[in-house]
Amino acid sequence: MGEMVNITVNGAKMEAEKGSLLIDKLLDENIHIPHFCYHQVLGKDGNCRMCMVAIEGQKRPQIACDTPIKEGMEVRTQGENIEKVRRDILELQLINHPIDCPTCDQAGECKLQDYYMESGFYESRVNVEEKTNHAKRIDLGSNVMLDRERCVLCTRCTRFCSDITKTHELGVISRSNHSYIGTFPGRPLDNPYAMNVVDLCPVGALTSKDFRFKQRVWFMETFDAICGGCAKGCNISVDHRKEKYKNDEIFRFRPRANKAVNGWFMCDEGRLSYHNENENRFEIPRLENEISDFKNVMTHIFKYISTVKEIFFVLSPSLSTEEMKNLQNLASKLNANISGYSPDTIDENFEDDYLRENDKSANRKTFKELGIAEDETTFKSNLEKAKLVVVVDNSYFEKNLELLNDKKVISLFSHLNQTIEKSNVAMPIASFYEKSGTYTNVDGIKQKVVSKMKKDDQAETITSIIEHLKDMIAKGTL
Ligand code: SF4
Ligand code: SF4
Ligand code: FES
Repeated sequence: MGEMVNITVNGAKMEAEKGSLLIDKLLDENIHIPHFCYHQVLGKDGNCRMCMVAIEGQKRPQIACDTPIKEGMEVRTQGENIEKVRRDILELQLINHPIDCPTCDQAGECKLQDYYMESGFYESRVNVEEKTNHAKRIDLGSNVMLDRERCVLCTRCTRFCSDITKTHELGVISRSNHSYIGTFPGRPLDNPYAMNVVDLCPVGALTSKDFRFKQRVWFMETFDAICGGCAKGCNISVDHRKEKYKNDEIFRFRPRANKAVNGWFMCDEGRLSYHNENENRFEIPRLENEISDFKNVMTHIFKYISTVKEIFFVLSPSLSTEEMKNLQNLASKLNANISGYSPDTIDENFEDDYLRENDKSANRKTFKELGIAEDETTFKSNLEKAKLVVVVDNSYFEKNLELLNDKKVISLFSHLNQTIEKSNVAMPIASFYEKSGTYTNVDGIKQKVVSKMKKDDQAETITSIIEHLKDMIAKGTL
């Protein structure tokens, strides 16, 4: 932090860093400052002119995104002249805009719509016989659709591709009134982070092919979570909805800013991984691969763990810290061995030098913290000795089913897979986003997730299954 100076904003005195951008101070202080082109990561471009403020001693309003803070600066973001200037700029922005909010997927989270409503600007004074029409459905690639008529040419999307991914797929083509966003011939938008341009676009020009027209945003509820797609643990918002007569369903993930973890962005694979939550779920408990029920399956789990002596727990590296601890305690009570062996979640091709990590699991760091071995030698020797293997959401056996031959198997999974078919007892469990817990990312940062999903027939969490078992153990013979 550099030298601090005193400034006044709308009559309120405050301290700010000398030379830093005025717009950052206004945003940090939650002072309303309309803006399209400025973004805290992409920086200033000065093209939209929406962030006008009055500065004492300056003849004309100035843009806050290109104004460095100075000692004694007196700033006004509202009142005399400022609203009028903003309104005039907005009027220019809207000359060619179709204002088709009722059919626009961005409605409800569009800055242009918000500012338009705010200014009460319903009739344009600009008399244009015909608006300049542009194409409305352009598939840019990477799940991103462009509606050129809605674009305000803020260039956030082009700057993302040039400054962040450095893939340069998008550019501003042509000049003045005829300018538009486009790709180069034969070079679609194609990079692992491309869908971030949808969040960056302040209007409905860039929309996600995956999400568009599936939900109106005001019907959805949101909770904060992390992406479980890799060890980075990008911070996300989970948008879900429980419609009448339907189950609670996740409709999209959006990145949530956390400078220490993911900055402002996330990768496309992580963003689209919400589909896994809604598909291929393991829902009905099984006994010897036949449909059963919770009570019966719990009785059999209890029977196995109280009669078989050589027990081996194999855990997924994406379990929460609380689940790992509870399973470790249970294993120790049963004198059982425990391992987090999971080489199948390592994918060297996934890693890059931005966010994506080669470990496609969410909490491997906690194995080390808790002293749960993950190495192959310990795993193999424990497996060899084991008569009963308890597989907890670990996908390693999926391609190594023969290792479970001649063993009794209890499995707990949120999604269907072949290990379930090989199990004597199989219990469905809550998925990553249906439970609350703590996860430690690759950099050692601990992050807590509190799920707000409200599913009908919600599967039990591992923690609640262990609680049931503890009750049974307390009343039983162990
Ligand atoms: S498409 Fe969206 S992000 Fe890109 S320049 Fe237009 S308004 Fe800005
Ligand atoms: S980088 Fe990893 S944690 Fe971040 S969104 Fe992608 S898969 Fe998820
Ligand atoms: S945000 Fe300042 S000019 Fe666009």
